[in-house]
Amino acid sequence: MDLFDLCMHARTVRRFREALGIDPATALGLVEAAGLAPCAGNLQELRYVIILDKAGREALFPLLSWAAYLKDWPGPGEGERPAGYVVILAPSEEKPFTRIDAGIAAGYITLDAHAAGLGTCILMSFDRAGMGSLLCVPEGLSPILVIALGEPAEEVVVETLPPGGHVEYWRDSEGVHHVPKRPVSDLLIT
Ligand SMILES: Cc1cc2nc3c(=O)[nH]c(=O)nc-3n(C[C@H](O)[C@H](O)[C@H](O)COP(=O)(O)O)c2cc1C
Repeated sequence: MDLFDLCMHARTVRRFREALGIDPATALGLVEAAGLAPCAGNLQELRYVIILDKAGREALFPLLSWAAYLKDWPGPGEGERPAGYVVILAPSEEKPFTRIDAGIAAGYITLDAHAAGLGTCILMSFDRAGMGSLLCVPEGLSPILVIALGEPAEEVVVETLPPGGHVEYWRDSEGVHHVPKRPVSDLLIT
């Protein structure tokens, strides 16, 4: 798969084959990839926590908010929850580039995960105080993004967003998740 195909297929997944778990070496590789991401001043201020064990996953899951556009869906049920997480920690006193660095790192993690056959969901809607205490985050750092991981248990397809169309993703009666994306002609300012 070339890089464009990987970008096309690296869609957000919110239902996972939880029982399959995640190889710890694969999870470590994701953090290594994040560590290679460009960052402002090459300061490398982000830190990462990997959660793969059942007890950790069960404690972390209730802190997350899923799929704001799917109003009637409460989030993944038992057996389809993430098989693991990478939590990105950033300095609590954010600099202008802190969230940019975190976003790029998350992009590296998600693409690397999809290349390894894993699905991902980046989440910024979560209980930050709860996450901070659950992970015993060191003084001066705060959780900034959570990346849920696991073998995908849902199909996700990209739709071309028509002019004037809505950006909301949706799920059809077969359970396929549809993500509208603007065509490049709508993105380019000429
Ligand atoms: C910064 C960021 C924060 C996000 N936060 C959440 C979240 O809290 N919960 C969730 O279910 N999805 C979250 N998402 C996933 C987006 O909803 C998803 O990327 C978007 O619907 C487009 O789908 P795609 O990733 O397949 O392109 C987040 C994505 C990003 C990049």
